[in-house]
Amino acid sequence: MTSDEIRSSFLEYFRKNGHTIVPSASLIPAGDPTLLFTNAGMNQFKDVFLGIGQREYTRAVDTQKCLRVSGKHNDLEEVGYSPSHHTFFEMLGNWSFGDYYKQEAIAFAWELVSELWKIPKERIWATVYLEDDEAEKLWLQETDLPLSRIRRCDKDNFWEMGETGPCGPCSELFVDMGVEAFPETADDPDAGPNTSDRFREFWNLVFIQYNRNESGALEPLPATHVDTGMGFERIASILQGVDSNYKTDLFTPLLETIANLTDAAYFDDDRGLPHRVIADHIRCLTFAIGDGVMPSNEGRGYVIRRILRRAVLYGKKLEMNEAFIYRLVDNVVELLGAVFTDVLPRREFITRTIQGEENRFHQTIERGLERLDESFDTLTAERHTQLDGKRAFELYDTFGFPLDLTQMLARERGFTVDDAGFEESMAEQRERGRAAWESKGGAKDADISVYAEVLKEHGETEFVGYTENSIDAEIVALIADSESVGSAQAGDEVFVLLNRTPFYGESGGQVGDVGIIESRDAKLCVEDTRKPSADLFVHKCKVLEGEITPYAAVHAKIDAEHRGAVAVSHTATHLLHSGLRQVLGTHVGQAGSLVESGRLRFDFSHYEAVSVEQLREIEVYVNEKIRDNDALSISEMSLDDAKAKGALAFFGDKYGDIVRVVQAGDYSVELCGGTHVKATGELGFVKLMSESSIAAGVRRVEALTGQTAMTTIQEDASLISDVAGLLKAPKTDLRERIERLLQEQRELEQQLQQFKSQQALGNVDALIKSATPIEEGLPVVASHVAGTDRDGLRRLVDEIKNRLDSGVVALAAVSGNEVAFVVGVTSDLVRDRGLHAGKIISELTRLADGRGGGRPELAQGGGKNPNKVEAAIDAAGEIVKNQLQT
Ligand code: ALA
Repeated sequence: MTSDEIRSSFLEYFRKNGHTIVPSASLIPAGDPTLLFTNAGMNQFKDVFLGIGQREYTRAVDTQKCLRVSGKHNDLEEVGYSPSHHTFFEMLGNWSFGDYYKQEAIAFAWELVSELWKIPKERIWATVYLEDDEAEKLWLQETDLPLSRIRRCDKDNFWEMGETGPCGPCSELFVDMGVEAFPETADDPDAGPNTSDRFREFWNLVFIQYNRNESGALEPLPATHVDTGMGFERIASILQGVDSNYKTDLFTPLLETIANLTDAAYFDDDRGLPHRVIADHIRCLTFAIGDGVMPSNEGRGYVIRRILRRAVLYGKKLEMNEAFIYRLVDNVVELLGAVFTDVLPRREFITRTIQGEENRFHQTIERGLERLDESFDTLTAERHTQLDGKRAFELYDTFGFPLDLTQMLARERGFTVDDAGFEESMAEQRERGRAAWESKGGAKDADISVYAEVLKEHGETEFVGYTENSIDAEIVALIADSESVGSAQAGDEVFVLLNRTPFYGESGGQVGDVGIIESRDAKLCVEDTRKPSADLFVHKCKVLEGEITPYAAVHAKIDAEHRGAVAVSHTATHLLHSGLRQVLGTHVGQAGSLVESGRLRFDFSHYEAVSVEQLREIEVYVNEKIRDNDALSISEMSLDDAKAKGALAFFGDKYGDIVRVVQAGDYSVELCGGTHVKATGELGFVKLMSESSIAAGVRRVEALTGQTAMTTIQEDASLISDVAGLLKAPKTDLRERIERLLQEQRELEQQLQQFKSQQALGNVDALIKSATPIEEGLPVVASHVAGTDRDGLRRLVDEIKNRLDSGVVALAAVSGNEVAFVVGVTSDLVRDRGLHAGKIISELTRLADGRGGGRPELAQGGGKNPNKVEAAIDAAGEIVKNQLQT
């Protein structure tokens, strides 16, 4: 059977038995931070096992792309030596989600391997988990296996996907490769699974029933499930009757191509190790990069880079001193593209990515190997057996040798490597790099180290935006979530780096350009452009349609209208700077600026507020220069020449030896990297809007430019007309009319106040009449008076006291949430009866949640609770009575 037939027959067998055929998931696990790469068929169903996700089916079957190069499942070191371990492999699997369990799983497996595929039954062995009596019983019951070919094992028969996640006891199927091939096992009475390579495991049936949680404990799952995984390359070797996966039709065409390309014949033994490693690694690289992992110095990208460099080193063993591994991509795609179709449209991208990586590594590998040889010689001479961390780090940093490659090379020569020393040097360098990068101003939105990485690898961006609005370019990197990524799709936000760009990156106060980047397959909207370092341009993009990948040829085009409007503001800033110095004095120096479409902000050193007259004078100056329509000239010169010309520099900036000088007329010369108009007349009109202080000795002027200035003036003018219309007065009379109106309003308010007081006084008679005598000749006037305030109350109290020969007056008024109280006592009562207005008011106000006090004859206070005013007033008579002395 060909491998294609084997794969199809597996899928078909389970499809007939009620399973839905599902596609392989990506090698990048979706939404699972516990895993770097997909390492088993069940990964994509983790949510179903945990009881938090559902599918439309309860039985599924597939072939899944897997990588076992990191974490709990890592076979990297065995590749090439082992006939049946790989970095990348296909895992055939069938699943039951709370549907069938152990019995059917065992019965299906047995029928497929013994009936359909006809693996001789006497060569088949099974293992079960130490405590799993049930599984053992089922093997005996459902199959022809004798007890003698069923082994119980401990840790080998408890499967877990990672440090946490779904897990459970498992049962594995083995095939006996025969004592002839492994004569050393002939006399071993215990020969069987997990004792030697003679017994090759090819299918694992996992009975998922637990979740291992973060504390390491096993929690039972809501339901039991079946998860099986069969090593496809292994079953291919078994069914094709060969003793190594490399002898199957999955690998022989690749090994042959490698032999042809390298001119080194392939042998099954040690001489073929490089071929086997390269054949394994190219499958891994093709699918990992195809799924969007870009070689880089972080995370997944670094794993892939290490594997690629490992392949290059093995290529060196075949005397390959230039890139060739990329040429195997076509071969892999031919072999597997029909099964994993995602890879088809990415073939060229994968090829170019690998080629670029290979080329880069070849630039340093030779010198790195020489350096390593020298180190080994020195170590031998000094009778040391360990390579120190500093040297290992130098190999990494300068020559691109990942630590595991150095370890591998050291091992081959009988040395070890000081891993801890390596990590120390690495940490020191990270710290230095971070500090250096941050002092340049840092980057926004993405982790700075990823940009440092891109800069190191691809060099600076060529900026062509002073002369071009659009250009053909190539994508050198895509960054999302602080990592290089291999693709971005419609809807994604991604930072795009090009080899060259017309987009101005935010700097010198001028905002970044916006526009469009388009490839044959995708369209991106550039929302902003930034410069995390002086020569690296980062386009903040949203993918509007299609899919974009690194190396894509693109057309990059700025929004020229936006750029034009920004240029207007930038030139306006220079004219404003000149005007400020003209009007306020040459002590004015730029302290900061913001230049954007339609507006600008300019901060400068000055010791006092700029007066309205000065501002007007500056505005007149700027607009005169605009009407003069002076040409701008931009040139590069040495810093010394620029200084000699009197060019103004922004003291916050650092300048190189060659500087860009922007000159307008003969009055403005500035060092500036920004974009400008060709002549000042293009500014049309600039309107200064405000002046303020932003720090001691630093002022800020804000202005509007271009259409925005015009629109604002128009709006102001129509506002004035509207007001004139409302006042029915010509514009020229507006100020006088409004002043008069304000004066009239003030007079009316005064009249109203007087009127209110008079009205209150009119109440005096009524109030006196309402008095309650608490004893003969001692009236108490207590009332809540509406429509007055504390002053009004005081006047009322005075008036009532004057009219009474003898008596007490207690009045309250409410305004808003405040209550005002005033109490008056005639002097005879103070003298003869010991009454005290202050004491009365203190009790009175307490009843309305307030306080008060004052002289014996007159006191005032306030309350906070208007709802209690009436109760307080009602109690006034009683309060006075209690305080009376006889
Ligand atoms: N998930 C199981 C394995 O990977 C089947 O072996």
